[in-house]
This record gives sequence, C-alpha cells and structure tokens, in this order.
Amino acid sequence: MDSQELGYTIKRHDLSTDKSLQPYSAADEYLLQRFNQLEPKPAHTAIYNDRFGFLGCNLNAYSPLIVLTQKSQEKAITANYEANGIAAPSFTNPLAALERPIDLALVKIPKSIALFQLFLEHIVQNSTPNVTVVCAFMLRHFTPNLLQVASQYFDVVEQSLAQKKARLLVLTQKKSTAPKELLTTLEYKGRQYKQYWGVFSLEHIDYATQFFLQHMQVTPADECILDLASGNGIIGNEIHQLFPSAEVHLMDDSLLAVESAKLNIQGENIHHHLNNDLSIFGDNTFDLIVTNPPFHFDYEINIQVPLQLFRESYRCLKPGGNLQIVANKHLNYKTHLAPLFSRVDILNEDGKFIIYRCVK
Ligand SMILES: C[S@@+](CC[C@H](N)C(=O)[O-])C[C@H]1O[C@@H](n2cnc3c(N)ncnc32)[C@H](O)[C@@H]1O
Repeated sequence: MDSQELGYTIKRHDLSTDKSLQPYSAADEYLLQRFNQLEPKPAHTAIYNDRFGFLGCNLNAYSPLIVLTQKSQEKAITANYEANGIAAPSFTNPLAALERPIDLALVKIPKSIALFQLFLEHIVQNSTPNVTVVCAFMLRHFTPNLLQVASQYFDVVEQSLAQKKARLLVLTQKKSTAPKELLTTLEYKGRQYKQYWGVFSLEHIDYATQFFLQHMQVTPADECILDLASGNGIIGNEIHQLFPSAEVHLMDDSLLAVESAKLNIQGENIHHHLNNDLSIFGDNTFDLIVTNPPFHFDYEINIQVPLQLFRESYRCLKPGGNLQIVANKHLNYKTHLAPLFSRVDILNEDGKFIIYRCVK
C-alpha cells in the first residue's frame, strides 16, 4: 500500500509483491511528530534506519543525513526521493566517521539490539556534547535490553507516552565512552569468523548454516561460485578452503555483512558485492550458487524476497549449473522451486532443516 504524509507518497520499493506490508509504521509517525514539535530545529540531524524513506522525505527541508546499512534501503529511499521530486540525500553508514557532528539523531529501533548498539556507538562518537537521540519502537517490540543498552551511552533515558501502540525513548546527556571494537568473533572448525554487531547470527554460527556446510555438494568442476546472501562469508570461505582455485563471489544486502566478509575471506579470485538482487551478474555466469537465504526482515517475515532471488539465480546459472539452498522445512520452498528448475533434489534433511539442490 502507498502511504501519504504531508503530501509525500512513500512506496516500499522492495522485491516483495505482498500488498499488506506497510512502508512505515506508527513509530515512524511518532518520530516525525516529535521532530516537528522541536523548537528551535537542530542544526544537523541524522536519521538512522529509515527503511523506505518516510522520515527522510518528510524532513528533506532540513537536509538530514541518512545513515543506513542496506543497499535495498538506499535504493528504496532514492526511488522515493526521486518519485517525490526531492534531490537525493546524503547517505552514510554507521562504520563511517562523520565530518560534521550531529546534534539530533532520529532512530527507528531495529530488531537486532546489537545493531541498535552499533547506532548508539556511532552517534556518541560523531555528535556534539549536547546531542539528543529520539528512538522509536512499537510497544510489542519492547525489551528491557533497549533501556540497558541506551543507558550504557546516555545518563538520561526517558520513555514517552504510548501513541498508536508506539513509544519513543529520548536519550540525553551522553556519557563519555571510549570507542569500542564493533566486532565479535565466532569459531567454526578452528577458523575464526569476525562480524560487525548486527550481522546475522551474532552468538554462534547459525545451525542451518552448519547443517548446510556438512552436506553441501561442491566439486572441482564448480569453477565459478556465488555465495548468495553471504552474511559474514562463512559458506564462501569454507568452499574457498576446499577449492582454492574456484572464483568465489559473495553478495549481501547488508553493508555490515559485506564488510565482515571482507575481513574473513580475501584473495585474487574472491569478489565481494553489496547488493540486494542479481542484476549485477550476467546470464549463465555461475556453476554453483549456494545460499542460506533471508526470510526475516527486521520484524517482517517475507518469503517473496527469497523466491525472487531463486528466480534470478536460475537466470544466472550456467545450463546444468545448480542452486543449493538450506531452509527451514516449514517454508516448503520445493513447491516454488519445482516449476522453475529442471530438477530439484533433496540433499539432506533433519527435523528442522532441508537442503535442496536445484539443477538448471
Ligand atoms: C540467513 S542469513 C545467512 C548469512 C550467511 N550466509 C550465513 O549462513 O551465516 C541471510 C542474509 O541475507 C542477507 N539479505 C537479506 N536480503 C537480501 C537480499 N535481497 N539480497 C542479498 N542478501 C540479502 C542478510 O543481510 C543476511 O546476511
């Protein structure tokens, strides 16, 4: 559904065709309302995690800096600015130092508390001493961890009244904290994998990924391989360790994931890509595509996105090439894969996960 506020039309611009998903929530509206009440207006505002550009478009008169982590966000926001006749905003990401300190940050709180902490870390290191941070969340998503993390960085953490089932957290009086290392390290088979806070599966290597690594089928004939939705790059790297001469491409929508993967796998035949679709690859490029595909997007579940990635994978595979997917069984991808591919086999399954091998 398209949505309008102050005359701007905001569309989702994502890979999904699910019309019931909204481009913004009451939490975004609450943030906008709070900004509109501020007098005087802050000199330099940054917006964190504006999914489709609702806040950026509505506040464009104040030229806010847009801090984002996903390529899909950048594309959607750019498309909404363009469609509304607004000049493109300045984008940055939470790993980049800011040239000009901010005095207001508007934060749509993400599901990942680690990502929320990464945002706060960025804000405190790149702001004026009197910075105010206004964060918004839907009441059903509240966890006490939010307050705990916020109070690591700010002396004053105030909650607003609820409005349309949304609430604000207003953070003032920042503490002086030394910059932290924004990485955690996970281990798999004696190898260390680093990843930035907020990258998929922060505590341990995902169980579906582990199941996949035990049962994937890779051969020396697989000379050109794509690790699709690569996260910290573990699947691509484990394949690289087995077949060091294969060309391995790794692609993810998340800048933090791609930057993590760069720390974990490098080489002349290793190629990192930040993107949310396969338009950057030609037809008939890959012998093998491997993936533990996304279906959770913050608080949304949406299998339209992996289904679109599977359709694009078909195009990018060489004839006879194959796509190997690990998934939760209940998602029942086989019904969607069988009409697309000439053959779909099950490589392995247990009580929870299943691995498909789909041949072009
Ligand atoms: C289930 S995780 C798998 C990560 C990694 N392969 C692993 O096994 O640990 C899915 C990944 O998909 C990424 N993602 C989400 N949407 C995407 C898209 N449209 N294109 C590429 N990657 C996407 C997420 O950022 C996340 O890193």
